[in-house]
Amino acid sequence: MIVKRLARFTIIALEGALASPAVHSRTLKSADVFLPVGVGVGSAPQIQTGRFVPFTLDQIFSVATLDYGVERAGYPFFDVSSLSGPVQIEVKYSEPFDGLNHPFGDGPYCYSNQMGNSFRVETFNVTSKGRLASSLLQGGQKWQSMRLLTNGTISFSNVGYEATIDTIEPEGLPGQFSSDDETLNEIWKLGARAATAACVDKSTQKAIWEVDPVKGVFARSLRPSLSVKATSFANYTLEFDTKIERGGSWWSVAAPISGSAYTMLLTGELPENRRFANTNTTLTPPNTISLGYGVDFVNQTTLASWTLDVFKVPFPVRENTWYRISVSLSPSRYLSVSIGSTQVFNVSMTTYPLATGAFSGSFGFGAYQDQAAYFMNAHVYDTINGSTLYLNNLTNQDVLAEYGTQANIESVCLDGPKRDRLVWLGDFLHTARIIPVSTSRTDQARGTLQFLLDSQLPDGQLNISPNLGYELKSTATAFAPSGSFGLPDYQILGLISFHDHVRSSNDLDWAQSAWPQWQKQIDWLLRRINNSTGLVTLTGRFAFIGAIDGGSAVSCAAVQGLNGAADVATGLGDTQSATRYRTAAASLADAINARLWNDKSGAYGFSLADLEDISVMGTAFCITSGVASSNRTARSLAALSRLRLGPGYKDYTQLSSTDPTVNISPNTNGFLLSALFLGNASARAGELIKSLWSPMLPGTQARNKTAVGTSWEYVNSVTLQPGLSLFTSLSHPWGGAPTYILTEWVAGLRPAIGSKGFGYRRWIVAPETGVQIGLKSASAKVVTAYGGDLSVEWKVQSGKMHVNIRAPTGTDGCFVYGDKVVRLSSKSVYEFSVDIPV
Ligand SMILES: *[C@@H]1O[C@H](CO)[C@@H](O)[C@H](O)[C@H]1NC(C)=O
Ligand SMILES: *[C@@H]1O[C@H](CO)[C@@H](O)[C@H](O)[C@H]1NC(C)=O
Ligand SMILES: *[C@@H]1O[C@H](CO)[C@@H](O)[C@H](O)[C@H]1NC(C)=O
Ligand SMILES: *[C@@H]1O[C@H](CO)[C@@H](O)[C@H](O)[C@H]1NC(C)=O
Ligand SMILES: *[C@@H]1O[C@H](CO)[C@@H](O)[C@H](O)[C@H]1NC(C)=O
Ligand SMILES: *[C@@H]1O[C@H](CO)[C@@H](O)[C@H](O)[C@H]1NC(C)=O
Ligand SMILES: *[C@@H]1O[C@H](CO)[C@@H](O)[C@H](O)[C@H]1NC(C)=O
Ligand SMILES: *[C@@H]1O[C@H](CO)[C@@H](O)[C@H](O)[C@H]1NC(C)=O
Ligand SMILES: *[C@@H]1O[C@H](CO)[C@@H](O)[C@H](O)[C@H]1NC(C)=O
Ligand SMILES: *[C@@H]1O[C@H](CO)[C@@H](O)[C@H](O)[C@H]1NC(C)=O
Ligand SMILES: *[C@@H]1O[C@H](CO)[C@@H](O)[C@H](O)[C@H]1NC(C)=O
Repeated sequence: MIVKRLARFTIIALEGALASPAVHSRTLKSADVFLPVGVGVGSAPQIQTGRFVPFTLDQIFSVATLDYGVERAGYPFFDVSSLSGPVQIEVKYSEPFDGLNHPFGDGPYCYSNQMGNSFRVETFNVTSKGRLASSLLQGGQKWQSMRLLTNGTISFSNVGYEATIDTIEPEGLPGQFSSDDETLNEIWKLGARAATAACVDKSTQKAIWEVDPVKGVFARSLRPSLSVKATSFANYTLEFDTKIERGGSWWSVAAPISGSAYTMLLTGELPENRRFANTNTTLTPPNTISLGYGVDFVNQTTLASWTLDVFKVPFPVRENTWYRISVSLSPSRYLSVSIGSTQVFNVSMTTYPLATGAFSGSFGFGAYQDQAAYFMNAHVYDTINGSTLYLNNLTNQDVLAEYGTQANIESVCLDGPKRDRLVWLGDFLHTARIIPVSTSRTDQARGTLQFLLDSQLPDGQLNISPNLGYELKSTATAFAPSGSFGLPDYQILGLISFHDHVRSSNDLDWAQSAWPQWQKQIDWLLRRINNSTGLVTLTGRFAFIGAIDGGSAVSCAAVQGLNGAADVATGLGDTQSATRYRTAAASLADAINARLWNDKSGAYGFSLADLEDISVMGTAFCITSGVASSNRTARSLAALSRLRLGPGYKDYTQLSSTDPTVNISPNTNGFLLSALFLGNASARAGELIKSLWSPMLPGTQARNKTAVGTSWEYVNSVTLQPGLSLFTSLSHPWGGAPTYILTEWVAGLRPAIGSKGFGYRRWIVAPETGVQIGLKSASAKVVTAYGGDLSVEWKVQSGKMHVNIRAPTGTDGCFVYGDKVVRLSSKSVYEFSVDIPV
């Protein structure tokens, strides 16, 4: 990067202040709905459906399959046009079709409270005609089934979702891409739709608890939601009143905000007239307390849970009756539960070696699938000395924020709409680059980063995965009682996305207001530069992208983060910080080149301690950060053949190439795409896009079962199926890199390097890489921060490229093809042809 002279900074800062970032704020209207495109009625779920028409369920045709075409999200509704009497229907929701054949759909999702239904099966007792609606949203699915569980008949005139995400289709987005390759056009839409589905507007994900001034908190079909005030409590006794409204009552203790806890499910007597016909009494036996460790009482793929024991309650547990529960954790690792004066169990954890968690962490309340319960009068005291730690009768609305169940207070991007539904800091990197070329929702990108900044610890770190439903600003430190969050490299990926957001939007007013917080975060990172090695040493057990101490991926990503931050500093006129960050980046880069380059293998080693192995992330970040010279770029891209596996590249050489469970990550392979194009390996980049992303598109019947119009979280290296079975998020913008890559490297439209390119004030059109992957024509459009769209259209015909560029007059740019450079300024339309080598 070129260091610019002082006078230049002032000018750029001024221009920055004049330009306003492009904001496309569509307000979600209450009338916005998603409707099925197909319905099939039979005795089992069916993948073939016909055009949607009103339908009837009865004993012979008891199952309706609804196909929504692509990923959808919202509050389910059902318009009942007639019914023979009260009937029960079981509704399932799933991203892949096969979820409809499983007892829990593609769920449950109990890792955190989801700010929506924790379950993918929902049962209704339908008693009247008219609209039946669920109060809990379903975050992401293409498929739905409805099964009549009882005798009788029921007819529906309509079903659908009240939308909780923007209803816009990729074709209608302000950012566009198109080319003469139809497969690439469809792949571009995957990330665009995933970012549309994963980014939610303020207040659209409504409160999941109801709070009654007399009866307290009401929860249904929700994993226990936890108090943020109790994250540092240990060896405590929790007492509360609960009243089962239907089925049972559920609570957890010694719980982290997300992850494995001691969890207890009280199932009531399940009276005949209130028991749904699909109730699984093996899983929830009447008059029992099930004790679990994990997030649930069933397993979901990689999310393991253990049912430790099931204890009989020695009396019938009535619905609609208040019981006082006491849960006691003792320093000697006994856990006991009493109902009123009856002790139901008191067990030592030595009996359950699988329950490894310490007796520390928060507590919370919820209700199992199709169950519902009230909670009141919580009292927590130290088990040994009896001193009160917490008192709350749970009758005031402020419990919503305390327990993370309030409507989202910011417009933010989640990792995925179906799960984890958390604002994962590091996962945002690709999303931050997809937004500007597709949805242009600058407000959602800014909201995400601001939400993360609100979670900042005094030492500068941001929460790596905050839940939607808490008030982070006043409680940040409560989420990290140990002083850190895990995955420390996510701080670096978050810093990179801050730069990428400003790069495309010129959002300098906001960047200025957030600058002290970013500087603090950068200072945290600078303190991680190891004085003896000159490389980054993070603390913690592991990093997501590579080795924690002296790793190439982490250190190169840090160079990229620091140089990006220096560009923003330049844009803000903070020359001192710009110099400081650039200087640190340069010496880090020198250290990486001196210590981590393995000349024999021709690649950056995995880490100081392991110079032989290589990784996708190390290779990618060492190139995209500019650490690698062109010689080293070319050589490390050649060394990538060691990682080639199935449809892409496995993350590390240490992973087996013959283990059929190894997954290919569209997230990390997405980092590689930029590196391949930068390293003149366009053809390989084009092949990777096709081989790894085509399996996500519809086509064969097998593919139609898993294609939902969005990019996936993981792809299995052998089967090309979703890599984590039903658990896989099929709508993960972290897997959507081709969306911005196609715009930037195939159509060739991107902001100029450095702060002069912010918001596309200066731009580049460089389509040679698109021609290199075999295209004859392409077009792309983005929204600039300078009052209009910037678009390019090019076509190759008999040795000539015809180019049409439209740009706001306040911007200028260059067309680059090989050594041909055409400067373009002061017009709004540029039309020309150039000779290109065949
Ligand atoms: C459903 O109808 C059948 C046949 O009329 C009857 O034998 C059965 O008892 C009914 N089941 C219920 C739950 O009403
Ligand atoms: C369904 O509603 C009917 C009518 O109110 C009621 O009699 C029946 O007990 C309910 N069934 C369940 C399982 O709640
Ligand atoms: C009922 O729950 C048990 C225990 O979790 C499980 O093994 C069984 O498959 C479930 N049955 C059905 C029909 O879902
Ligand atoms: C979940 O899977 C683990 C092994 O992965 C097993 O030990 C455990 O018993 C399973 N839990 C349930 C509830 O089936
Ligand atoms: C549970 O049993 C242990 C060991 O006997 C005892 O120390 C503890 O006080 C008991 N807890 C309760 C709440 O009774
Ligand atoms: C009781 O234990 C708590 C720790 O849980 C401690 O902070 C407090 O000082 C103790 N109170 C008394 C009165 O010993
Ligand atoms: C709630 O608890 C407070 C004490 O914290 C008590 O004064 C108040 O009466 C309680 N309110 C209700 C409605 O029970
Ligand atoms: C610095 O790096 C060395 C070599 O990797 C490591 O042993 C040491 O613990 C690091 N120092 C700190 C303070 O992280
Ligand atoms: C390196 O040295 C500086 C000042 O001497 C110190 O503040 C910093 O914590 C050290 N870093 C590491 C990783 O040891
Ligand atoms: C890629 O091509 C450009 C332009 O010809 C050249 O400057 C650069 O060194 C090349 N990089 C690599 C890694 O070959
Ligand atoms: C690239 O590296 C190789 C091997 O070290 C060396 O032989 C060659 O001269 C280098 N090429 C350039 C252009 O630096």
